Amino acid sequence: MKKKESTTKKKPLATQVKKVKKNEAGNFETQAVRTQSERSHFREHATPLYLTSSFVFDDAEQARALFADEIKGNIYSRFSNPNTTEFIDKLCLLEGTEDGIATASGMAAMYISMAALLRAGDHVVASRSIFGSTHQILNTIFSRYNISHSYADLNDPSSWEKLIRPNTKLFFVETPSNPALDLIDLAWIGKLAAKHKIILNVDNCFATPYLQNPAKWGAHLVTHSATKFIDGQGRVIGGAVLGKKELIKEVRFFARHTGPSLSPFNAWVLSKSLETLAVRMDRHCATALALARWLEKREEVKYVKYPFLPSHPQYKLAKKQMRLGGGMVTFEIKGGINRGRKFLNSLKMLSHSANLGDTRSIATHPASTTHSKLSEAERLAVGITPGLIRISVGLENPKDILTDITQAFERSK
Ligand SMILES: Cc1ncc(COP(=O)(O)O)c(C=O)c1O
Repeated sequence: MKKKESTTKKKPLATQVKKVKKNEAGNFETQAVRTQSERSHFREHATPLYLTSSFVFDDAEQARALFADEIKGNIYSRFSNPNTTEFIDKLCLLEGTEDGIATASGMAAMYISMAALLRAGDHVVASRSIFGSTHQILNTIFSRYNISHSYADLNDPSSWEKLIRPNTKLFFVETPSNPALDLIDLAWIGKLAAKHKIILNVDNCFATPYLQNPAKWGAHLVTHSATKFIDGQGRVIGGAVLGKKELIKEVRFFARHTGPSLSPFNAWVLSKSLETLAVRMDRHCATALALARWLEKREEVKYVKYPFLPSHPQYKLAKKQMRLGGGMVTFEIKGGINRGRKFLNSLKMLSHSANLGDTRSIATHPASTTHSKLSEAERLAVGITPGLIRISVGLENPKDILTDITQAFERSK
């Protein structure tokens, strides 16, 4: 039998991560569609699914060199896989970040983006309006490891600087926030983070890379729940941590040895989803704006919150840092918590479900569900009034969404 030659010094290696073609034209939609793993010898048009736990080594020397990080290549799908590589390389290009890592869920992304970089004794300043599980990481989990935190208000920028301590290592923000749709000025907080040498981590889940690129404003890390608008079709759970090379190096080490990796199947689905992100977001945003304008005129509604409505207190900021207003609308129904509950029960088409960013429009009533464990005062502090309804605007015909909401207003009187 012919003896296999060591391929360590030759390129490309059989096990090398396939080079993703970065589109030279540089336009978002083209990059999302045309950034793709190198074609295999089968000459497939769409990227195949690499459903494999591990990859073979050409010889012992190549295995050694791969483990020693002397050469790049796939070893085991907990570390990397062509599908996760394609997904993450595409996301990095769309977000304008140097490097990234794909995770099994949005929460895995939030957790490792902090846990990998923080040490006992460190302090975090986070905006008060962050996703419930991110609160749990800070309140319940990190406190076990002597990592402390303070909460600052998104709409009170002067409160942030006062909370900085000598051991403050990280800022964590979400913009727009869930569910109140408050914003933070990314350029301002980017400068504050730079001035104090603090890592700025932005959960960009609501905006997606199509609407807003926090790295452009100085964020060192951009985190995503890909489960939402990135998948956009309510199918898979996934996430990503993107950012500066030197930070992602630490996050990658942490992930490799703790294992919150994204499955190749979910990465394949999510990479395909990115191809249609721009067209989907254009439609989500157009319908959401139309719905917000319509709601403003309804007598059943106390107020409407949508970043691209001139009545939003941060309308100017939204116009500055977001391409469009996003796919989420919140409004306060007159009649408080009971009317809110009745309204949800009266909807016929809109789903009542614990997700957002789906093709199907979803309505939720945070005061009686996701945030019911908070006191009313705590809810009010993050903008959750008793009759607040959150709509994740889907891709159905806009007229049908309005028809369903109209009949639910009538039936919940
Ligand atoms: C803003 C935000 N961040 C993070 C997450 C967590 O993402 P996942 O459910 O993919 O773990 C969510 C989920 O709803 C979210 O809304």
